[in-house]
Amino acid sequence: MKYLFFLGRQRELSLEELKVVLSRFQDETSITVVSDEVPDVVSAELQDSTQPQALMDTLGGVVKIAQYIETLPSAKTETLEELASAWIAEEKTNKARKTFCIAEHGRNHLDAVSPQTMKKELIKRGVSARFIEVARTGAEAGLLLEGDVSEYHFIHTKTQTILAKTVAVQHVHHWSKRDMEKPYRDKKKGMIPPKLARTLINLAAGSQDPKDLYLFDPFCGTGTIMMEALLMHMKVAGSDLDTDAVHGAGENLAWLSKEFNAQGEYMLSVQDATQVTLKETKEKVDCIVTEPFLGKPNPTPTSVQNMLRGLEKLYIGAFKQWKTILKPKGCVVIAFPEVTVGKSVKTVQTLIDRLESLGYTREKGPFLYTKLHASVQRALYVYRLKE
Ligand SMILES: C[S@@+](CC[C@H](N)C(=O)[O-])C[C@H]1O[C@@H](n2cnc3c(N)ncnc32)[C@H](O)[C@@H]1O
Repeated sequence: MKYLFFLGRQRELSLEELKVVLSRFQDETSITVVSDEVPDVVSAELQDSTQPQALMDTLGGVVKIAQYIETLPSAKTETLEELASAWIAEEKTNKARKTFCIAEHGRNHLDAVSPQTMKKELIKRGVSARFIEVARTGAEAGLLLEGDVSEYHFIHTKTQTILAKTVAVQHVHHWSKRDMEKPYRDKKKGMIPPKLARTLINLAAGSQDPKDLYLFDPFCGTGTIMMEALLMHMKVAGSDLDTDAVHGAGENLAWLSKEFNAQGEYMLSVQDATQVTLKETKEKVDCIVTEPFLGKPNPTPTSVQNMLRGLEKLYIGAFKQWKTILKPKGCVVIAFPEVTVGKSVKTVQTLIDRLESLGYTREKGPFLYTKLHASVQRALYVYRLKE
């Protein structure tokens, strides 16, 4: 069956994550962009055994999944309203009254599809309907999770309109609870958003089942990446130079197991990332997924070069040491800083150029993760240890 995936704000990254996660769920997948005008909606066939909700629960970067219904000729909106209502009226439901909302994508310059007309068309067909007004591009996930609302999408391409119905939405309350309500937070040092952490873990796991993998975060901070990895049933370890952070990450992981029933093995230690060892366990790790120290959040233009040089030294030391704890062909998924100074963008280019000779092959990236008004952005890379 065909489904449409609504990608999050970080389109490239979300698309890459969707690709790798789908390859984990099923043998063959081809993802196509629905229309150049609507680049954040892509479509893919799901095999019968692949459940949209299970996919949604795995992904960090997809916000909604809708089931494809049919392709309508993109003529006048009245025709669309009539055709869509005819389909909706036939849809089986056990409710006396249908509550619905509509979302439109593309063709922003033309008349909107009229829900009032749709309501009339539905009544004409004997369906009692109530319409809920939402933003043009669709309802907030919270409404769809809580309410009894069916959401229909009109996705306009140049020549046609695709009709689809939302079947899974991101569990926004769970994500924001993990982000905002964990007991130990440290805004000053910066925390990776849990959804981004999830996406990076998915990139690290690739087509392998995360349950079989051992993940390490050597700059664990508050433990966000470890938390998401535990929810994916991975074996997890983390360390940080800062004793408070390690203690706080421990509190967060205990909270996670209580609030989200995350049962799993994890280890935490105070260590320098450039000298990190696996202590007594000896078992090497499959992947390192980490957001290292990225320098000052607002460096002055004159201090950027020095800051980046210092970071390069730290990262080179870390990458050298990580060869001792990674399994052969193990991978590193990492965020590097990108700083805009005037019209140019500065990054840790010397390190990036050296990684090949340090024994790491760049597999993917950079994917830029942009945060509004931040002067240091994250550029995300996937590296693989050559042997
Ligand atoms: C950007 S924060 C990581 C935040 C983490 N991803 C989170 O969500 O909370 C970077 C972390 O690196 C730690 N750090 C700085 N230098 C380090 C080093 N040489 N070795 C290990 N940790 C270090 C800091 O204490 C800080 O917790």
